[in-house]
Amino acid sequence: MKDILNELEDRRNAARMGGGERRIASQHAKGKLTARERIELLLDEGSFEEFDMFVAHRSTDFGMEKNRPAGDGVVTGWGTINGRMVYVFSQDFTVLGGSVSATHAQKICKIMDMAVQNGAPVIGLNDSGGARIQEGVDSLAGYGEVFQRNIVASGVVPQISVIMGPCAGGAVYSPAMTDFIFMVKDSSYMFVTGPDVVKTVTNEVVTAEELGGASTHTKKSSVADGAFENDVEALAEVRRLVDFLPSNNQQKAPTRPFFDDPARVDSSLDTLVPANPNTPYDMKELILKVADEGDFYEIQEDFAKNMITGFIRMEGSTVGVVANQPMVLAGCLDIDSARKAARFVRFCDAFDIPILTLVDVPGFLPGKSQEYDGIIKHGAKLLYAYGEATVPKVTVITRKAYGGAYVVMSSKHLRGDFNYAWPTSEIAVMGAKGATEIIHRADLGDEEKIAQHTADYEDRFANPFVAAERGFIDEVIMPQSTRRRVCRAFASLRTKQAKMPWKKHDNIPL
Ligand code: HXC
Repeated sequence: MKDILNELEDRRNAARMGGGERRIASQHAKGKLTARERIELLLDEGSFEEFDMFVAHRSTDFGMEKNRPAGDGVVTGWGTINGRMVYVFSQDFTVLGGSVSATHAQKICKIMDMAVQNGAPVIGLNDSGGARIQEGVDSLAGYGEVFQRNIVASGVVPQISVIMGPCAGGAVYSPAMTDFIFMVKDSSYMFVTGPDVVKTVTNEVVTAEELGGASTHTKKSSVADGAFENDVEALAEVRRLVDFLPSNNQQKAPTRPFFDDPARVDSSLDTLVPANPNTPYDMKELILKVADEGDFYEIQEDFAKNMITGFIRMEGSTVGVVANQPMVLAGCLDIDSARKAARFVRFCDAFDIPILTLVDVPGFLPGKSQEYDGIIKHGAKLLYAYGEATVPKVTVITRKAYGGAYVVMSSKHLRGDFNYAWPTSEIAVMGAKGATEIIHRADLGDEEKIAQHTADYEDRFANPFVAAERGFIDEVIMPQSTRRRVCRAFASLRTKQAKMPWKKHDNIPL
């Protein structure tokens, strides 16, 4: 009996060593943790339960039958994050470069199936050279099975990808279909084809970092939602994110204890909006001041900074925030910001997370480049996302809400539940100057007349009261009482029921 127990222990120890000491040392030398060390940091201490530790590949080509490491390059299982169950796979770069074989993929599929069945998030820690070259089409088939599960799981359980090493070829497409992608600076890369192929095909010379590093994907392409300094920080931030999210689409996000008075008045907000309507101010200040304990988890912080997206809690419950940022491009809507916000709104709606929208938007960014690149279609994404969202929607207009952008930003007309405006709001088709130049074109050149027309327009429209008279604004509120008003609004919406007519699925303008 003792021998059998010892054999199990020996086998386990061998599996835990992955690709062996030399490769583990090489992984550490690159500033990277091993697959198991990452799981240890991600999950609550001692909570990890492993599956398939002894799974080995079945390939016999290229002498592979002589190299059959236990676990086949990926550690899979489940554990808890602050007591809540999550499923995890962590690719082991020390074993055949973490490459994906048929059996490696099967292990990932097994935990994804269990995650959907049991209603818990899937977290993938990616560190892999991609399809295992020796296995050819079997490896591609394995990837295909993972992709299909990403799609089935989408909108059912949250899926989070952390890119912690190279991620090339088809390997980027599984993360691309998950809800959030985080990268580790200087040690992770994502590209469809690497620098060598790029050089051969296009003659461009580019480094891996430039082509697909964390900076590229958080600032330029928007493929990734956040980048962190090292493995430890990235994993800690995933834990923080998971705390904001529900386990699945049937459950609410967890409610945390809070110590911040929901009725807290913040008189500094009364002076947040500057007297000059063209002077910017930082919308993040408002977000931090309405949030419980000033805690804000920003998503895509470095991309399309004219739009802010992220999670806060109000009375302990998760709220998704979408806000125009007047500090960047005057808060205009453009292609990037519309896409960013639309995806975030759809995530919140899929997982029953209420949405708070803070509006200061002078309109859509005009210009040839925006039109040629399809602002009509991309702007429509955000309009569509808000209009289809059935979660509680509370909107606060702080200053400008002009034109189409007014309608888009969770207006009453898109089934906003509570639409508040600060007294500093201007709700109109456009700014006074632009409007005057169009409707009083005949007077252009006569400065006195134009000034008078502009002043008349401002008197009429540069306020929230015309919209309030029509019921498009439910209440004009004091800025200082925003947190209290919004908390009460969401509290009253906890039992909200809203449905869309049956359809197979929608046809959002992609
Ligand atoms: C088999 C692989 C491998 C792979 C790496 N290894 N990638 N083995 N299949 N795809 C092995 C290496 O042979 C090596 O084994 C060990 O992993 C570590 O690799 P190194 O090259 O020494 O590491 P490094 O210098 O850090 O470079 C990492 C790398 C490079 C950038 C990932 O290995 C690389 O370019 N690999 C190939 C990437 C690729 O083209 N993958 C296919 C993508 S196409 P030893 O025994 O020497 O330690 C794809 C299609 C999917 O994925 C389509 C789905 C539909």
